[in-house]
Amino acid sequence: MTRLPPEFTERMLAAAREARKHAYARYSGFHVGAAVFAGGAVFAGVNVENASYPVGICAERSAMAAAVVAGNTEIDAIAVVADAETPTPPCGMCRQALYEFGPDMLVVAEGSGGEQVSWILSTLLPDAFGPANLRTDPVA
Ligand code: THU
Repeated sequence: MTRLPPEFTERMLAAAREARKHAYARYSGFHVGAAVFAGGAVFAGVNVENASYPVGICAERSAMAAAVVAGNTEIDAIAVVADAETPTPPCGMCRQALYEFGPDMLVVAEGSGGEQVSWILSTLLPDAFGPANLRTDPVA
């Protein structure tokens, strides 16, 4: 899905803004909230940092995991709301993680001043490595 009715986009953004309040960003101080739209519902996530820095997880992947926990393996869209004035696009690791569940998902980012930017995931990760590139069919 490359288009999403504006009310769904607003629902995702609202969930991401709300979730951001619970970001555990003790080390970077960079609070991020995300929300995905999957199976007709919205699933939120935040960045969760760790004293062992590389163990931390981004908001996008924590929202994605929440959708999968609820049984969704197709994600239509994701919204990202961070501390920055400039809207924050997903990092490279999150682009790869999200690609698994919706190569053409809508990605919407909102800056602290309200500016919104959107992309289609496959344009943020061209020539991506995905399930079809594996030598054998993955086990379901
Ligand atoms: N972070 C996210 O949660 N999403 C992004 O798109 C960029 C970065 C987090 C990771 C880390 O907790 C903090 O922001 C600083 O990089």
